[in-house]
Order: sequence, then C-alpha cells, then structure tokens
Amino acid sequence: MTALDFDRSHIWHPYASIGNPPPVRLVKSARGTELTLADGRTLTDAVSSWWCVAHGHNPPAIVEAIRRQSERLSHVMFGGFTHEPAIELAQALTRITPPALDRVFFADSGSIAVEVAAKMAVQYQNALGFPAKGRLLAMKGGYHGDTCCAMALSDPDGMHTLFRPIMPRHHFADPLDFASVVEAVETHADEIGAVICEPVFQAANAMRFYDPELLRRLRALCDEKGLLLIFDEIAAGFHRTGPLWAGEWAGVTPDIMCVGKALTGGHLTLAATIASSRVADTISAGRPGAFMHGPTYMANPLACAAGIASLRLFAESDYAAMVARIERVLSTGLLPCRDMPNVKEVRVKGAVGIVEVGRMPARLDIERVIDEHGVWLRPFCNFIYTMPPLISGVDTIERICAAIRDLASCEPGPLPADPDFHE
Ligand SMILES: Cc1ncc(COP(=O)(O)O)c(C=O)c1O
Repeated sequence: MTALDFDRSHIWHPYASIGNPPPVRLVKSARGTELTLADGRTLTDAVSSWWCVAHGHNPPAIVEAIRRQSERLSHVMFGGFTHEPAIELAQALTRITPPALDRVFFADSGSIAVEVAAKMAVQYQNALGFPAKGRLLAMKGGYHGDTCCAMALSDPDGMHTLFRPIMPRHHFADPLDFASVVEAVETHADEIGAVICEPVFQAANAMRFYDPELLRRLRALCDEKGLLLIFDEIAAGFHRTGPLWAGEWAGVTPDIMCVGKALTGGHLTLAATIASSRVADTISAGRPGAFMHGPTYMANPLACAAGIASLRLFAESDYAAMVARIERVLSTGLLPCRDMPNVKEVRVKGAVGIVEVGRMPARLDIERVIDEHGVWLRPFCNFIYTMPPLISGVDTIERICAAIRDLASCEPGPLPADPDFHE
C-alpha cells in the first residue's frame, strides 16, 4: 500500500469522505508562494493555505523564531504559569488593536476564539444581572467556524444545518438589510446579549462584501440597547481587505475582537479573543469571578513565538500598499470574467478576488486547470476565488488570474448531489 493509498482509506481530510475521497496531492515542502509536490511539480498557493500564510510559506524569520523557542520551552500549562512569548505577543497585539481593546485571551484556533467571545458575552450579561440574555444576533451569510457554538453563529441555512440538534439557538439578520437587524434586536430584546459579525467581508459562507456603514449602525444600536459588539476578524484581519483590520473601513471599535489565521503567518495554530477592559472588568466582578475557559494548549510558546515574528513582519513592510497592488492586478485580471456566460458576478476587494459562477465546473475541469496552470485553487459552492499570500508579486497574481479565467470559462458542471454539501 502506497502512502497515498493509506491516506485515501484511513485519514479524513476536511469536508471529505473516506471511501470516496476527492484527490489529494502529496506536498513535500513550501517556500514563498510555491508548494512543492512529491513528484517535483510546484503549485502556486492561491488560497494562502486557507488564508493564513500571509507572508508566504516558511519565511526565515518565523522558522527561526519557532526553532529558537523550541530549544528553550515548547510548552507549559498556562494555568499557574506564564512565559515571555505570551507576554510579548499580547503586548505586540494590543499595540496594533484599537486602543480600547487590550485584554487578551489566547485560543487554539479561530473557532475556539469565537466560542470564547460568545462565552465572554454570556458572562458579561450574567454579571450585569441579565442571565436570560444568553443568545447572540448573528448574520445570514456568515461563517465563524466548525465547532458547535461557532457553527450555531454561522449562516443558519448554510453547510451546518445537519447539526441543528446539537447547536444552541441564536437569532439572525441580513447584513444587507439593517431594518432586519433592528427588528431582530427589538423582537428578542430580552434574549440577545451581543451581536457578532465578520466586518465588511463575509468569507467562508457568502463570499461577499457589504457596506461598512452597517458597522457604524450596529455600533450605535449595540450602545443604545446595552449589547456587546463582536467583530470576527479571523479572515478579514491582517490586511486581507486592505487596512490592518476590516473594522477600520467604518472607524468602528467593537467590544470584543477575534483574530487568528494570519496571526502566526500560518505556521502554527493560534488565535486570540481581545476584549475591552469594560468587558473584562465586568466579567471579573460577576460570578464566579473568573472567565471560565482554559484549553490545554492555551498560549502555546511555539505558536506565540511564531505570532511575535509574524507581527514583526507585518510591522516591517507596507502591507497596505502590497495589498493595494494585489487589488489592482486582481481587478484587471478578473473583471474580463464578467462577460463569460457562466459568470454571475466578479468581486474584488483588497487581496480577495471572487468569481461567482452560475454552476461550478466539473471536478475534472478544476483538476485540469490546477495542473495545467500550476496554480492551487480550492473553489467551493459557486465561488472560484483567490486569497493569495500578501507577499505575492504581480507575475504571481497574473498567473492566478489566468487560471481563474480558464476555470470560469468552462462549461457548468453537474448539479451537486447534495446542495447542502460543499468543501
Ligand atoms: C471568519 C472566520 N471565523 C472563524 C473561522 C474558524 O477558524 P478556524 O478554522 O481556525 O477554526 C474562520 C475559518 O475560515 C473564518 O473565516
């Protein structure tokens, strides 16, 4: 049995079956924007390995930081101990988050950071004497992760409907229709304690952008009604849409912010939930006098060291300018797709380029385009998209656009066997 045969029959991949899995490619190494496969071919990583490899793969500064940290301290429980990497990373993070946000909880993934934010909202409202306000208002078309609470805050009609029996119930509104937000908040005023959204860019579900004005209105509404505002910046943060934080499009500071993905430049799993002192102090003043979450690998020193090195890289170069350049090349390269018969819309903002098609081309066409262009794409639902490493040069982005144009011009594939399923 070859290694790939074993993989096919024994190892689950994301959103995949064992028994009839989609093809996987054996990767041996990576550098910059390029992945090198076991057979020697290279593929440009046009999705930044699910949007986290902002500085490209294996930049020496991050590799070296992890190596040096591993020689001193790879892990120690965070209960009863602290360490320099956690302190230094929290200091660096709170220097770049909006000034009001300076209380840091380190989580082990984006989904967990969202769970932590939701738990903070519950404890906050409890401490204020509103134990019934344990539900959140979330956005249709949103995505916040694959764990139970994060699924329950994601689009209610999206990919997680199967899991309704184990998901807590929340309320939803449409970010394109502020009246629906007000209506939901007023109808369920006695139950809702917080509002959560992905600022400006709804990524893994709707793959769409919305008017930053919604964030200003949400801020005013939350202030008026005593609700916490939570921004999930896990996909949009770290310059993905242009500014460091997507909330900057509206000049709005939330009460709690979740960051992840590019935090370590895509090198180790780490996320953070960052709250205001008002939220933290209120939680501390309520029962049981502590914030009740504490995972085994909380603030793992290796991940924190990678995070420090990643934030240093963000500080050393003008990422906003790099993203503006990517945006220009993506616009020029993808807008011609608008004239293709199977294309519904082309959307570009920052280092995000999306071609929405009427129906996804067949799997064989997707594989052909990846192999022929040497560009790794991971289309899903009706979205052919790129979110390339932010260090990508003009030539790289042009090659990615050529691959997307080729794929978007293919015939529509068969209807999906199960419309609720996507990878
Ligand atoms: C906005 C947003 N929140 C949360 C998550 C979950 O992050 P993770 O996959 O690290 O759990 C994602 C992942 O795509 C995301 O896009």
